[in-house]
Amino acid sequence: MTGLDDGLVVLTGAGISRESGLATFRDPGGVWSQVRLEDVATPEAFARDPGRVHAFYNARRRQLADPAIAPNAAHRALAELERVWRGPFLLVTQNVDDLHERAGSVALLHMHGRLRVSRCIHCGTTHGADTDLSVRTACPGCGRTGGMRPDVVWFGEMPREMERIEAALDRCRLFVAIGTSGSVYPAAGFAAQVRGRARTVELNLEPSGGRFDEGRYGPATGVVPEWVESLTRR
Ligand code: APR
Repeated sequence: MTGLDDGLVVLTGAGISRESGLATFRDPGGVWSQVRLEDVATPEAFARDPGRVHAFYNARRRQLADPAIAPNAAHRALAELERVWRGPFLLVTQNVDDLHERAGSVALLHMHGRLRVSRCIHCGTTHGADTDLSVRTACPGCGRTGGMRPDVVWFGEMPREMERIEAALDRCRLFVAIGTSGSVYPAAGFAAQVRGRARTVELNLEPSGGRFDEGRYGPATGVVPEWVESLTRR
């Protein structure tokens, strides 16, 4: 039995933001059914056709700025869980949206980067990005153009913060994966990595096919607050 003093790692994926109005990647009608990831989400795509890559991320960044897009009950439940949890707590998200921070989560790592941050490939500095990027955007750090890219992790690139994530996985006794299909490594391997040492839970619209000790299935705005409630009331 795990309790509020144990180490907890929460992993989230696109499914948690679905009911906020953001598309997932691999569901029917998802992002990767509209556009080939090889065309927009690899370093090669950016080198080949930066305009196309910028257009893809500019559209997603604009959507995120739409006042209709806001954190939902699942994001808020995780922020509340962090507030009442007494043991080590880490929320790891694969999402590049900022809905977890807007809901109030603090111990949060964006392992696939953030949409609202840009990075200069010339000087390496990162900057807030609330407007469109293009090959003409000058780096606020070095002033050069042609090198500004969204600070997201593309296929073939290293996920962020892996040392801190591994440390949290090593000491956790409870691991929960929320709204992720388990298709992309290393995140897809986290549950197997902690199995035997930690209780593993999946909260998803439907079973992802991964091995978990417990699964609760349905829309995130229902199952996540219910699961949080079940942890905090006992
Ligand atoms: N509530 C809960 N889960 C949902 C909901 C919902 N309302 N809607 C969909 N889901 C589930 C789907 O059943 C699926 O298992 O969310 C999961 C979404 O899976 P993916 O689209 O594959 O998204 P994710 O796992 O986050 O993808 C990982 O792939 O291309 C990349 O970099 C991108 O970070 C992303 C990574």
